[in-house]
Amino acid sequence: MATKAAITAVGGYVPDFRLTNKVLETMVDTTDDWILSRTGIKERRILKDDTLGTSFMAIKAAEELIAKNNINPAEIDLVIVATATPDMPVASTAAYTATQIGAVNAFSFDLQSACSGFLYALSTGAQYIETGKAQKVLVIGADKMSSIIDYTDRTTCVIFGDGAGAVLLEPNEEGLGLQDSIMKSDGGGREFLHIKAGGSQMPATHETIDNRLHYVHQEGQQVFKFAVTNMADVSEQIMSRNNLTAEDVTYLVPHQANLRIISATAKRMGIGEEKVMLNIDKYGNTTSATLPLCLWDYQNKLKKGDNLVFAAFGGGFTWGSIYLKWAINPAK
Ligand code: UT7
Repeated sequence: MATKAAITAVGGYVPDFRLTNKVLETMVDTTDDWILSRTGIKERRILKDDTLGTSFMAIKAAEELIAKNNINPAEIDLVIVATATPDMPVASTAAYTATQIGAVNAFSFDLQSACSGFLYALSTGAQYIETGKAQKVLVIGADKMSSIIDYTDRTTCVIFGDGAGAVLLEPNEEGLGLQDSIMKSDGGGREFLHIKAGGSQMPATHETIDNRLHYVHQEGQQVFKFAVTNMADVSEQIMSRNNLTAEDVTYLVPHQANLRIISATAKRMGIGEEKVMLNIDKYGNTTSATLPLCLWDYQNKLKKGDNLVFAAFGGGFTWGSIYLKWAINPAK
């Protein structure tokens, strides 16, 4: 049997500060009712300390995983940090994270695929395990979205939050772990979801700052349409090509961007809401961190052999789905 890449440990971190819908009502022209009914979000976590970047949360999530599972960080071969908000435009956030957690023998890199970042990183990390190139791969999804959100723009500031989640990938010879993946992208979508300035195409100037071009710009309705169709399409496709019925799926692990997108995906897959991992109500959209934070919250409900279908959609556009068999029983 071919070696598969299994998730053998999970860690997570969210900052303490809760930005509630009620507080947002005092910041922009919005209501708790609008936010809850349109998105499913009640509150999100914010990393308040301006001196701390995404690596702070990535390190916390990794440290929790390492401590809880008695991992020797020196044995980690590769650290991938999926993030849209690196600490700095140049200097790998993954390299800093790896060094800080004691993964002194690992190589490391950042992976930027917006809200699909963790999914892409999981499938990339799995290749190193499947080919025998690595024995322990740490895949982290972390984003400090509050650093790129305009808190005067009600169409985006109600949606996003900060957080980090981490998983360890190790070889499995029993057929458990990552079974299949479908990864997609379409650059035609970038006009609908992007940060215009601060990159090579439009470097920072006084003018770009005055025009607030360093913040996330999203045309919500357009992105919504593509997200609903594409997330449902790939989830249905991965089920059918692996002969999975709705009964076979233990959980859908969906990107937490909007409860209505998640419900549409579950409906197309024919699965009930009790089989959908959800935490959008308490964290909002944490971009690269949504999927590992779902695993972090639901890990005690999962047992060896459970069938998970991951699905995500994000800026780029990027999207995809992964079918994974869970490899561990909950800790006693
Ligand atoms: O994670 C990466 C991928 N991103 C996504 O998947 C996000 C996809 N998009 C969405 O989730 C939704 O489009 C949003 C939650 C962003 C917006 O919800 P919507 O139901 O598509 O609202 P809309 O943009 O069509 O706006 C409806 C109305 C507008 O007012 P008018 O033009 O009808 O008078 C907006 O100006 O709601 C208004 N509006 C708000 N009202 C109160 C927009 N934001 C707010 C707000 N509070 N925060």
